Amino acid sequence: MDILVAGGHGKIALRLLKLLADEGHTARGLIRSPDQAADLEAVGAVAVIGDLENDKTLDEYVRGADAVVFAAGGGPGSGDERKRTVDLGGAVKLADAAVATGVRRYVLISSIGVESPDSLGGSMSAYLRAKGEADDYVRGTGLDYTIVRPGGLTDDPGTGLVTASLELGGRASIPRDDVAAVLAHVLTTPSAIGLTFELFGGETPIRAAIDALA
Ligand SMILES: NC(=O)c1ccc[n+]([C@@H]2O[C@H](COP(=O)([O-])OP(=O)(O)OC[C@H]3O[C@@H](n4cnc5c(N)ncnc54)[C@H](OP(=O)(O)O)[C@@H]3O)[C@@H](O)[C@H]2O)c1
Repeated sequence: MDILVAGGHGKIALRLLKLLADEGHTARGLIRSPDQAADLEAVGAVAVIGDLENDKTLDEYVRGADAVVFAAGGGPGSGDERKRTVDLGGAVKLADAAVATGVRRYVLISSIGVESPDSLGGSMSAYLRAKGEADDYVRGTGLDYTIVRPGGLTDDPGTGLVTASLELGGRASIPRDDVAAVLAHVLTTPSAIGLTFELFGGETPIRAAIDALA
């Protein structure tokens, strides 16, 4: 498959691109800074230079892909404005490009807490609202989506063991390695289409955890 990962230099994205390239896929990462291209090439991925906020459309990057993944984020230091332009606007622009170019499959990294954005206050509310609106938008496109809502991300080594749940409201952490492995798995798993699920570190091998949701 040809897979375009938006936010291609992110911590999850680089892990995902490596897994996809190792599996023989054409793993393309959309980055806004050409300086980051070497890091993508080092994991076997192809760097595509483009900007989720400043490019009018993403059609030229998405065209020809079999699937797209939204792994970008304004980051914890970003203000409310960038939550709208990256976390919401970037995800929307990627969905619009998928629709415009006939790419059916869209995997979105969302977050826990989206269903109650005001429970945490401050900039977290703006972040969770932006993520929630992005989820709703992607669901409304008719694309073959999967929305993955991980708990707090850590850089601990992956275990290959997770808890995946359709019931929302959980709270726990998960290594970025394991989120990347789940994303790689759902991209090639048709039964994951149409699912929105929370994801934490756990006890169940990834394939079995995702199979149990369908
Ligand atoms: N932290 C948590 O505990 C947590 C929990 C649940 C979900 N999440 C979500 O998980 C996702 C991935 O997390 P992560 O830690 O892997 O993210 P990350 O390392 O912060 O990566 C985010 C990437 O988005 C890119 N980006 C920002 N603005 C862009 C633009 N205009 N055009 C293109 N790329 C742009 C950044 O590139 P630059 O280097 O150019 O800025 C960066 O590489 C995010 O969506 C985050 O919201 C996080």
